[in-house]
Amino acid sequence: MNKVVLVTGANSGIGLALCERLLSDDVEGFQLCLACRNMQRARVARAALLASHPSAQVTLLQMDTSSISSVIAASKEVKLRYNRVDHLYLNAGIMPSPHLDIKAFFKGLFSSNIITMFATGEGILTQKDCLTPDGLQGVFATNLFGHFLLIKELEPVLCHGGRTSQLIWTSSSNAHRSAFNVEDIQHQKGTQPYSSSKYACDLLSLALNTHYNKQGLHSSVICPGFVMTSLTYGILPSFPSFLWTILMPLFWLIRMFTNTFTLTPYNGTEALFWLFKQKPESLDPQAKYHSLTSGLGNSYTQPRKMDIDLATSEVLYEKLLQLESDMRKKLKERKEGLAA
Ligand SMILES: NC(=O)c1ccc[n+]([C@@H]2O[C@H](COP(=O)([O-])OP(=O)(O)OC[C@H]3O[C@@H](n4cnc5c(N)ncnc54)[C@H](OP(=O)(O)O)[C@@H]3O)[C@@H](O)[C@H]2O)c1
Repeated sequence: MNKVVLVTGANSGIGLALCERLLSDDVEGFQLCLACRNMQRARVARAALLASHPSAQVTLLQMDTSSISSVIAASKEVKLRYNRVDHLYLNAGIMPSPHLDIKAFFKGLFSSNIITMFATGEGILTQKDCLTPDGLQGVFATNLFGHFLLIKELEPVLCHGGRTSQLIWTSSSNAHRSAFNVEDIQHQKGTQPYSSSKYACDLLSLALNTHYNKQGLHSSVICPGFVMTSLTYGILPSFPSFLWTILMPLFWLIRMFTNTFTLTPYNGTEALFWLFKQKPESLDPQAKYHSLTSGLGNSYTQPRKMDIDLATSEVLYEKLLQLESDMRKKLKERKEGLAA
């Protein structure tokens, strides 16, 4: 059986650009599974991929990463369809109701922190989170916990003695230690759930390496850079599109000074694609692999040490295991309640 590549959040933005890039590189070498919440958009994405790569094997899978039952049902379906998953891209993500702190933004504009502010969004982005029907914080559930559960569910097809498999997280340079509290892993109390969830992805990737490397499963983290996608446009939802058009030359100019302004989804996939080509066991579990684009438009991948530590990653991992067990119990009780 051909290799299997599964991508979450594959119907738009960076996820879709990655699928296109993988197929352009080697259309026959693997089966591609697009795991998506919105199936209408997923069907459009699949049709577009098949239009440019008619011989590709592309299937769709319905999965809402914020919903426990949806992740479990989707995982069952994956195990029925495939006896292996070789590359699992954990890419789906949200940044709901983002708020740009205009005061902090203008302060940053005239400070020595301007490049970092543009490159990472540090200090200027807050969001309003909400609870999922499972009772979890929405950003945590979507960006982190649903993916954690997916890995746990897919263990039998990810871990096969003698063969390596790869987990690749789309994290962010907005993943800041200051936004994460190990006593509040869901970020119930703060105003930066996105940054917290991405920092937790970085920690979790490290813990997964500790616990799964011996079984041939390796985890890596990437940052796509600043990419113009619906997630980015959502930061200023009231901004009319012509203003974005006016801003674009400014962004291209900023790229002269900061290579993290990758801007296009294709450039943003650079590190995701580069990792696909590497031996997973040769990668540094403490590094985040950054997609970067030079002022002249050349894309490349660069590893940078993450601000994470083993002890905190282990505490987070234990807490996620506990939450997984609690949620499974809850789901079972709910099912038994319905059957009674
Ligand atoms: N754009 C950037 O500058 C940037 C920077 C750093 C990191 N990232 C990360 O890159 C990843 C991709 O984002 P993007 O920029 O490409 O934005 P995007 O175009 O909005 O893509 C996000 C994808 O995630 C999916 N998704 C959202 N919630 C989901 C859920 N509950 N279940 C399943 N799928 C869900 C969306 O599908 P629907 O159609 O169902 O909404 C969509 O396919 C995210 O993890 C994001 O945090 C982006």
